[in-house]
Parts: sequence; structure tokens; C-alpha cells
Amino acid sequence: MEITLSMAPLGAEVTGLDLARPVDDGTFRKIETLFHERGVIVIRDQKLTPEQHIAFSRRFGPLEIHVAAQYLKRGFPEILVVSNVVEDGRNIGLADAGQYWHSDLSYVANPSRCSLLYALEVPVCDGEVLGETLFASAAYAYDTLPAAWKQRLEGLTAVHRYGDRYQKQQASGGRGALSQEQLAKLPDVRHAVLRGHPITGRRVLFVNEGFTAAIDGMPTEESAALLPQLYAHIVRPEFLYTHRWRVGDLLLWDNCLVQHRAIRNYELPLRRLMHRTTVAGGDGR
Ligand code: OGA
Ligand code: MN
Repeated sequence: MEITLSMAPLGAEVTGLDLARPVDDGTFRKIETLFHERGVIVIRDQKLTPEQHIAFSRRFGPLEIHVAAQYLKRGFPEILVVSNVVEDGRNIGLADAGQYWHSDLSYVANPSRCSLLYALEVPVCDGEVLGETLFASAAYAYDTLPAAWKQRLEGLTAVHRYGDRYQKQQASGGRGALSQEQLAKLPDVRHAVLRGHPITGRRVLFVNEGFTAAIDGMPTEESAALLPQLYAHIVRPEFLYTHRWRVGDLLLWDNCLVQHRAIRNYELPLRRLMHRTTVAGGDGR
């Protein structure tokens, strides 16, 4: 197994590892340690069945079943299909996943530990791969936060909510409505704005454009003015890692440490097909 760090303060590439075979505990610990340091890692050149993808994902913990039931892979509810492919007039997966900065499932009480996205088809145009995914380190954002901001934010919590975002996406087309029953599973939740990572304890600035609705206990306008400044601080371009996909990539990101955003710079007939598993968060170990 070979590891290459990216030039950014997050991101690493792993080669020489075959996840279709059992991974021994020593190797897994190495991957996990690297993962906790770098927040996002790509394991290249994989050829995984859904069963193998799920089995490796479970090494990190129990898996979530995504609320968007219409986009789960048939026979494998642990797999969320992320794709622009249309079959029989219907999207086979979420076509518009994450085209805004977010961390997956920050809108549940125990935000997801990590997501594992496996590339089956990637759009290529004139030899260039499109549909990159951008990553930003919320830990680095915390470390570089001006002291006065840290003071102001210490002890505050923010509201996170899925419904607003889903409705925005739905309004712009391409998504079926969530049922009342689906929405009822997703009440508002609150997280510390300066949150400790549930496993490593590392502090992060835990607000995101996708799902953070407001900072608690602040006048509405003040919160609405402050949040975009915090988002801008998190995603300063010099601190981003851009993932350029290859077929066979298994990309893992830590939802408690980094944020991500999809770039939609391709359209059919260029196809993009990914499978995502999502590892549940712990209860603040
Ligand atoms: C996701 C997501 C980004 C992408 O699957 O959670 O945000 O580039 N995907 O597909
Ligand atoms: Mn996402």
C-alpha cells in the first residue's frame, strides 16, 4: 500500500490496495489513522461489487439508509445511487447531489461519520474528466479562525435542517417530493458551532451552506449576516482539495472534519454513475 499526500491541508491518495479482498486489522488501522489526519482519501483502482463496497464501509461503523428512498439501489438499501443517468424517463439516482457546500447528514442528531463514494462511470470530454468534487477542511477553518470570532462563537449552537434544501432542489426540477412521513423523520437538530470531532476531539467550525439554517440565540439578521462570512472562511480557495475522478476510485470523506461540493459541469450524453454508502455517526464518543 502506498500513500501520497495532496499539497492541500487535506486529501491523500492510496494505491496498491485491493478492497475486494479482506483487509486485515493492521492495514485498516493505517487507513483509519490517515483518514483522521487528512479528512478525505481516495483508494484508487478498485473493482467492487455492492456487497464488497458495503462490507468495507461497515468497518467504519453501522450504515445509514438515506431518506431519499427512491434513489436507493434495488436490493441494497445501504447504497444511495448518485447519477445523472435517466432510464425509462426517470433519474436512476440523485442527479443533483451536493452542488453546494455541505457535509452529509449534518441535519441529523449524530451527523454521519463518513461517506464512501465509488465511481462506476465518470464523464470525460476531450480527454478531460468532468464532475470534480471539491473539499474544504473545517478543522483548518477552525485553526485559522480569528481569535475574536472564536470568542464570539464559543458555546453557541446552530440549527441544521434538511427540508429547506430539499425543497430548493425540488423547485429547480429533477426531484420527487419528500412525503410527510419522510419529512417527519427529519426534525430540526442543533450542533455546536465550534464542534469537537466525535472520535479525535479535533475542533472544527461546524456550519455549512447546505443545511445550517441559523445560529441559535442571535437576532435573525445577525445570524443571516454572520453565516455567509463563516462559509467563506471555510472554503477559501487556497485551502481546497479538488478530487478529479477516475473509474474505480473509492473516495472516503469524514463528514465531521471536511465539507464538500459537487461541480456540475457535464450533461448527458456524458454519464456519471456513483454509489454512496454513509456511515452513521456515534453519540459523541
Ligand atoms: C454526495 C455528494 C458529490 C459528487 O454523494 O454526498 O455530495 O460530486 N456527491 O457527486
Ligand atoms: Mn454530499
